[in-house]
Amino acid sequence: MVRKGRAAAGDGTPEEIHLTWGENPATSVVVSWASPGPATRARVRIGQRIIPAEARQYADGINGETVWTYHARVGGLRPGATYAYTVTADNDANAADPFSATFRTAPGSRAAFRFTSFGDLATPNTEWVLSYGQSAYAVDAVESFQPLFHLLNGDLCYGDLNPTTQPAVWRDFGNNNQTSAAYRPWMPCLGNHEVEFDNGAQGFTSYLTRYTLPDNQVPGFGGRWYSFRIGSVLFVCLDADDVVYQDAGAFVAGPAALTPVAGTGNPPIQPGSSFYVRGYSGGAQTAWLQGTLAAGRADPSVDWIIVQMHQCACSSSATGNGSDLGIRQQWLPLFDRYEVDLVLNGHDHDYERSFPVRGADADVGHETASGAVVNTLRPHPVTTTDSGMFDTSRGTVHLILGCGGTDANLDDYGLDNADGQRQAKVFTRANHPRPTSTPDVYARAAADAVEDATWSAKRDTSTGYGIAVFDVNPSPEDFAGQTSITVTQYHAVGADPVNPATGAKGAPTPDYTEFETFTLVRPRSS
Ligand SMILES: [Fe+2]
Repeated sequence: MVRKGRAAAGDGTPEEIHLTWGENPATSVVVSWASPGPATRARVRIGQRIIPAEARQYADGINGETVWTYHARVGGLRPGATYAYTVTADNDANAADPFSATFRTAPGSRAAFRFTSFGDLATPNTEWVLSYGQSAYAVDAVESFQPLFHLLNGDLCYGDLNPTTQPAVWRDFGNNNQTSAAYRPWMPCLGNHEVEFDNGAQGFTSYLTRYTLPDNQVPGFGGRWYSFRIGSVLFVCLDADDVVYQDAGAFVAGPAALTPVAGTGNPPIQPGSSFYVRGYSGGAQTAWLQGTLAAGRADPSVDWIIVQMHQCACSSSATGNGSDLGIRQQWLPLFDRYEVDLVLNGHDHDYERSFPVRGADADVGHETASGAVVNTLRPHPVTTTDSGMFDTSRGTVHLILGCGGTDANLDDYGLDNADGQRQAKVFTRANHPRPTSTPDVYARAAADAVEDATWSAKRDTSTGYGIAVFDVNPSPEDFAGQTSITVTQYHAVGADPVNPATGAKGAPTPDYTEFETFTLVRPRSS
């Protein structure tokens, strides 16, 4: 078999170059990259310093291809400073003029800064399932706003939906992102499509090998969840695969089995198989979350707590996944107790904003099949007045930002025809694959319950593509003694392959225009 897309084994030329924050974003970053073959003396140069890279490699469990990655931890930096760096190796084809870029460290204390966010990015290479040209414009959009860093909310490239070519899909993803991620950290979280067959205990090997993320100090679960501090904001990045009921990781629908190449030693994966990882940490992630939130809220230098996770507690997408009771049961009580201000999701390929929510309305859901009442723990809005300014010390705002670049736009939202209210689907149990009427073909059902989405404040029906821009203002003068975050959602009208409301056919577009802006406020902690 001839493998395509990879150069000779001795090629150590850096590619897929990306930054993440180190343990302290004011003083450290990690430079990570890959190369087509093993690199010799892979290294970063910054000023007069040469920092050797740690090599990490794996062989893909389906197609057997070896992936070579490198990670240089750069510490001892000054806060709020700009640095130039180069990435090279002895067998770098560009060694005479190696890749170079600049980055900026985080401020060392309470200071204003900007970050951006979306999830569900995919790649611009439409050869791959769920990839789409908007993915390149989305990266350009990040650069156009010049944020300090970007939050990438899971479902990075859909390798699992292209199982026999996973390393090539990740390569296209990494090279597309490099035009931004080499210049500012892109901080990811795990989504359901990071779960890949035969790639580690939870299927995360492709992700974990490519990213070096802040240490969560939980043995055996490094990289799966983490936190970091920027100024007066604590960012908490979670893996909701651990708590959601929905079965949405790697799946073989059939009728054919998925057969790994012989060299992997892995047996065929039979039709109807899914890789369901709910509960994998045995409660370790939730215990870590409680400790992290408690310490953050007790710290007088922390005003804001922002959570990033892929799957949703508050999504009313009609054709997407909707909401999941698992997050509501395990994590929303902690968000209430420790006053999490903002939750950023992906997963449904649209834009939706909730009112601030606290507590839950009991027994207001209905089973889709029987109509029987079911307790979906519907998040309770503390206001339903869309005033444009919300005090998040009273309730948590959830934003669905699955609007990155995948070709499956989902800007189609639920409506309860009986009462005209917005309606959300809710998973209250696992939807494992079941046989269909076609022999050896399996399917996973949609969510099993619905509720009136009283928490839903704003939905973008004009496009499934956009980027959220967050301006953190820690000085309390502007809002009567309160600190603030101004949020602006920009959207790419016309980018939908097909708009679900109008049927209009569109194409990728570089034009991102303002959809809405609103402000979050809360009292300063100290
Ligand atoms: Fe997803």
